[in-house]
Amino acid sequence: MRHKDIRKSATCVAALLWLCCTLPGYADETPPVHTTGCADCHGSDGLAAENLDAPVIAGMPAVHIEEAIYAYRDGARQCRYEPLMCETVKHTSDERIANLAEHYAAQTRRSSMEPYDPQLATKGEKIHGELCSDCHFPPDDPDVADALGIPLHGQRGVYLRYALKSYEDGRRENLLEAMAEKLNQVDSDGIEALVNYYASYE
Ligand code: HEC
Ligand code: HEC
Repeated sequence: MRHKDIRKSATCVAALLWLCCTLPGYADETPPVHTTGCADCHGSDGLAAENLDAPVIAGMPAVHIEEAIYAYRDGARQCRYEPLMCETVKHTSDERIANLAEHYAAQTRRSSMEPYDPQLATKGEKIHGELCSDCHFPPDDPDVADALGIPLHGQRGVYLRYALKSYEDGRRENLLEAMAEKLNQVDSDGIEALVNYYASYE
């Protein structure tokens, strides 16, 4: 583009400035995805360190991120803690959702750093193996994107309890009857054991 044209277009100047300032030397590469609107709660890295009520979404396969977002959009999932979550995704285009999903899927999931009881974690591991592991793979499993469920290892306890309660009281539709059947076999002690097990993920 010629210099004269750039001066004519304020948008173009702004775009170029942005490229020069954020990507020195890489001006011809695809710009990074803006996480504005999501980062306030989930962080740009998806670890949600600043908002402990928001779930960790780092390293969640893109297909599951999109699936979850569409569930909020069409009402299959309802937001209780943060109505703004549902509002935000309602006004986000499909294309942007796809980009954001790719971005968050590419972030590294680390341990939630929550304290856990090793004995309960061992009990939870057993329950997970018996009832949940067919569908919920750890985020570093090579087949995690093909799993039916969302990775739970490294997710925060407060969110896991809330999500499970939401299926129970109807704020979330169970996508699979098979999961409802398994959950029915877990009592509240079992849930706590599972939460401790998922927190033990490093
Ligand atoms: C106001 C805070 C807030 C904002 C803004 C927000 N989220 Fe959320 N997000 C949450 C909370 C809280 C939940 C859990 C909601 C529930 O199920 O009730 C959630 C759930 C999710 C989930 C489902 C996670 C899972 O494990 O099932 C995904 C994916 C997600 N958000 C992505 C996004 C993206 C992408 C954006 C930006 C377009 C965004 N969120 C904006 C707070 C927020
Ligand atoms: C037959 C497959 C299947 C089994 C077995 C299963 N789940 Fe799920 N689970 C799913 C699917 C699919 C979803 C995503 C549904 C949705 O979007 O709401 C899910 C979602 C969840 C969520 C919400 C995750 C999030 O990030 O929002 C939790 C928590 C969960 N499952 C826990 C469990 C536990 C605990 C067990 C074992 C007792 C279990 N599931 C067994 C398929 C399964």
